[in-house]
Amino acid sequence: MTNPYENRWTCVKVEIEDGIAWVILNRPEKRNAMSPTLNREMADVLLTLELDAQAQVLVLTGAGEAWTAGMDLKEYFRETDNGPEILEERVRREASLWQWKLLRMYTKPTIAMVNGWCFGGAFSPLVACDLAIASETAVFGLSEINWGIPPGNLVSKALADTVGHRKALHYIMTGETFTGEQAAEMGLVNKAVPLAQLRDETVKLAKTLLAKNPVALRMAKVGFKRCRELTWDQNEDYLYAKTDQGRFRDHEGGREEGLKQFLDDKTIKPGLQSYKR
Ligand code: COA
Repeated sequence: MTNPYENRWTCVKVEIEDGIAWVILNRPEKRNAMSPTLNREMADVLLTLELDAQAQVLVLTGAGEAWTAGMDLKEYFRETDNGPEILEERVRREASLWQWKLLRMYTKPTIAMVNGWCFGGAFSPLVACDLAIASETAVFGLSEINWGIPPGNLVSKALADTVGHRKALHYIMTGETFTGEQAAEMGLVNKAVPLAQLRDETVKLAKTLLAKNPVALRMAKVGFKRCRELTWDQNEDYLYAKTDQGRFRDHEGGREEGLKQFLDDKTIKPGLQSYKR
């Protein structure tokens, strides 16, 4: 099958197979460091895949030895230092656009498949993805302190949302690295597996998501992420509104089908399995 996205972007590769869109940061020789060009392309990738019906679950991973070594120290930092002052605003905005603004509430489920190095700025898209699976041997680090800056963009916020206070500050302030296995223990990723099993485990998780009602999945994830920022009263209104919105948008009629399969047909136990789509 031909790949409609072949050679479309210079720093990102996209391959779609069985409903899974593999989005591969593709600067292996630079450990997939996020340059302004990569950031601009990633926003386009996300917007493009949103309207591609073949792309139902998105997996974000990296080519070669790295997931991503963070922001590109040369192109994102040094080369914008002496440019027009406003350029810095612009490259920051373009980075944020895909790394968390688009990705965090993305209309489709997202999985970070962390295959290797994961440093600094990488933590924003890592936590913006709904779920994450890492290689046990992947190496993570808040390395900013090692080259003289505090974590930028939404890196600290991403940690605060996932990892306990003491652990977050420990890694932010020491710059020490930790492994995929430790990342799983501290809740930064869902699980860590041997590198050789990483792709199969990711496909397994993606297939679980593919079997669910896509509108309900979207409402559930957006509802959960937003609810952290609202009060209990606001949440009650908001989450019910999300439920109602889901019924309006779900042309598959998932709720009715699920009720029917349990109450009338008696073919499923929703406590134990998904309704049959
Ligand atoms: N920005 C720009 N370039 C980077 C980069 C980054 N964040 N990370 C790696 N590269 C480049 C290196 O400059 C090198 O380029 P060159 O071949 O033109 O010299 C190339 O990628 C390979 O890097 P190298 O350090 O030789 O690879 P390694 O496998 O020995 O080590 C890392 C990998 C990730 C441990 C190391 O590259 C590193 O510490 N990178 C910086 C990580 C960081 O602090 N990121 C936070 C940014 S917010």
